Amino acid sequence: MVVIDAILVKGNGPLRGEVAISGSKNAALPILTAAILFRDPVSIDNVPELRDITTLLNLLSLLGVRSVRRGKRIVLDASGPLSHEAPYDLVRKMRASIYVLGPLLARVGEARVSLPGGCAWGPRPVDLHIMAMEKLGAEVSVDHGYVVAKSPPGGLRGATISFGTSSVGATCNALLACVTAKGETTLENAAIEPEVDSLAEFLAACGAPIDGIGTRTLHVRGVDRLRPVPFPVIPDRIEAGTFLAAAAITGGDLNVTGCRPDHLDAVLQTLRDAGCEIETGKNSIRCRGSLPPKSFDITTAPYPGFPTDMQAQMMALASIGDGVSRLTDTIYTDRFTHVAELVRLGADVRLEGNTAVVRPVGGLSGARVMASDLRASAALIVAGLVAKGQTHVSRVYHIDRGYERIEEKLRNVGASIERVREEGP
Ligand code: UD1
Repeated sequence: MVVIDAILVKGNGPLRGEVAISGSKNAALPILTAAILFRDPVSIDNVPELRDITTLLNLLSLLGVRSVRRGKRIVLDASGPLSHEAPYDLVRKMRASIYVLGPLLARVGEARVSLPGGCAWGPRPVDLHIMAMEKLGAEVSVDHGYVVAKSPPGGLRGATISFGTSSVGATCNALLACVTAKGETTLENAAIEPEVDSLAEFLAACGAPIDGIGTRTLHVRGVDRLRPVPFPVIPDRIEAGTFLAAAAITGGDLNVTGCRPDHLDAVLQTLRDAGCEIETGKNSIRCRGSLPPKSFDITTAPYPGFPTDMQAQMMALASIGDGVSRLTDTIYTDRFTHVAELVRLGADVRLEGNTAVVRPVGGLSGARVMASDLRASAALIVAGLVAKGQTHVSRVYHIDRGYERIEEKLRNVGASIERVREEGP
């Protein structure tokens, strides 16, 4: 018997009050992985306490990188001898483990990293990561489910790397690999998500000349040695967006603090389309929802477009809308495992290719639902906030991968939500 957690949510009226946003999971992961490149201890601040972060620290520990957490600060030490193998058992838990590929090639000269495999909504290739390493001179093959890579004699060499598709992960991996390579590297069609900029800013602060941060072309001059400076992780824009969706769906009034409104333009525009009043401060966003939400359309796209990581939560909002909404995912065209679960709560959602068409219904009603991935879990909790009666979300270990103390944060602003233990398969 396995004991796993479930979350019980009851529709409990409008959420009101203030929610503080944690550090960004997706920004913290590549920055923590960068520790492999340093011979001196590195100190990273505002690191959220999440399962994905623990998974990465376990992987880093296996590779020989020691880490100590003091509150929100993590100090990592990669001064000792490092191993170069990232095993399947850890990589399968979190796809971002592939981030160790670039730094291991740079520091150790070789890497054996399990292929991450797909996820609940389909295959998630790493061909662009491999292409980037090859451009930098590495020999790469795939053998028995592992990416096996070796740097050329004398180490990685700067190159021009052009990405056909904008990829957050491949851009981060390329940056991590080239920053200590010999000579200059140009990354063309680099991803410009805030998490990528943040990694580039960290590496630049540690002494690597990087031009073009925030643009699609990055020029990196490789350095022999990086000098660590303490660096804070940026706020999590997806966590912020999720709480804004929670304010909107309950017709509530939430002040989301410690966030970066400039990272959320597309999400804020959609919330305005849905009839919310949005006020932004320097580091805060106030969202006042009005019910029923107006229907709206979104199409996910690379930053600054609408983030795929907010598609599911906005579908929950659309499901109680006053008209027909269309949500199209162009980044992950199969990312719709939450649709069937929202339908269990009474939503009228039909898939037409990679577009979910959401039609108005009288309201949602609580039911047992199953989370299939991180953002789907968030969407089901958001929907549960307005469903009549109780919504029972099982498999919530997904939510612990990416939301810090979500029940506590929601409860503090008036939600009726609790975590229970139950027997699992
Ligand atoms: C990151 C985020 C994830 C988010 C996604 C898109 C992290 C840890 N995860 O994932 O939460 O949903 O960005 O914003 O930051 N692709 C390829 N080949 C590759 C790599 C990607 O074809 O080698 C494709 C993907 O299938 C996808 C697109 O590129 O269609 C963008 O994916 P990418 O930006 O790489 O996503 P991740 O970095 O995996």
